[in-house]
Amino acid sequence: MSVERSPDAETAAAFAGSWNRQREGSVYTREQFLDWFTPLEPEAFSGKTVLELGFGNGSLLYHMAACQPARLSGVELGDTFERTKANLGEALASELDLHQADLTKVDLGPYDFVYCIGVLHHLKEPVEGFRAVLRHTRARGRFHCWVYAREGNAVIRYLVDPLRRVTSRLPWWLTKWAVALPAAAKYFLYAKLLRALAAVFGESLIGRLPLGAYSLWIAKRGFSFFHHVAFDQLVTPTTHYIDRATVERWLEDPAVDPDSRYVVFRNGNSWKFGGRTRS
Ligand SMILES: C[S@@+](CC[C@H](N)C(=O)[O-])C[C@H]1O[C@@H](n2cnc3c(N)ncnc32)[C@H](O)[C@@H]1O
Repeated sequence: MSVERSPDAETAAAFAGSWNRQREGSVYTREQFLDWFTPLEPEAFSGKTVLELGFGNGSLLYHMAACQPARLSGVELGDTFERTKANLGEALASELDLHQADLTKVDLGPYDFVYCIGVLHHLKEPVEGFRAVLRHTRARGRFHCWVYAREGNAVIRYLVDPLRRVTSRLPWWLTKWAVALPAAAKYFLYAKLLRALAAVFGESLIGRLPLGAYSLWIAKRGFSFFHHVAFDQLVTPTTHYIDRATVERWLEDPAVDPDSRYVVFRNGNSWKFGGRTRS
């Protein structure tokens, strides 16, 4: 299937518009990278063949490369390859194996470790993305995913999502500067306020406020990261909020070793999950 005929082509084009306007380098800190992969430790990737499905501008590849995998590959539908290579630096980019393709259709063969962070919930058919994760994981290999949760996201689902349905149809610059910028400014103040309050009243109390745990996490970053996240939320034409029951159903796939499965509620509004495939 050609890239343009993928059902996710519109989503990938919207993201490419966002990624290609980012500054050079990873948008994530190493601390954020490690947090996304916990309970897995970086040692789990060292010397392994590793594949990222939906790599955006290479922000996670950048940190994954530092874990010294034996081979690092990536698949991305959007046209972000020049930006990604610039982000990673020519030396690093030349060692990577990057493919422009629809991850739900591509077959690159088996890897020791496959990850898919922030992607499945943007696919027209999220389960097809999860099947692609399993398809690329070798027997007894590991996989790890992260998705937006239905649980804990009422504010986003009832306030931001209806807005996204409109803003994803607007010119990108209008969404970025006229909508995402003021929205990010208000949320930035809220998150920083919660962080200040947490210093006095404790994280467990403040974390119970709307988007509390997530706000305490994101408030460690500066305003440009808030603006990036707000633009990402508002520019994409497809977003699903995935409940725990759905994640658990996916993990019942016969290819998954039931004793290896884990599901972690992250920041009160998302799911990290993974495991190993059977031998
Ligand atoms: C929110 S971004 C996450 C990027 C990266 N994993 C990260 O965490 O920085 C989602 C990415 O998935 C890509 N994507 C969406 N549908 C896709 C598909 N069917 N095949 C490959 N990539 C896809 C988008 O273009 C976008 O870059």
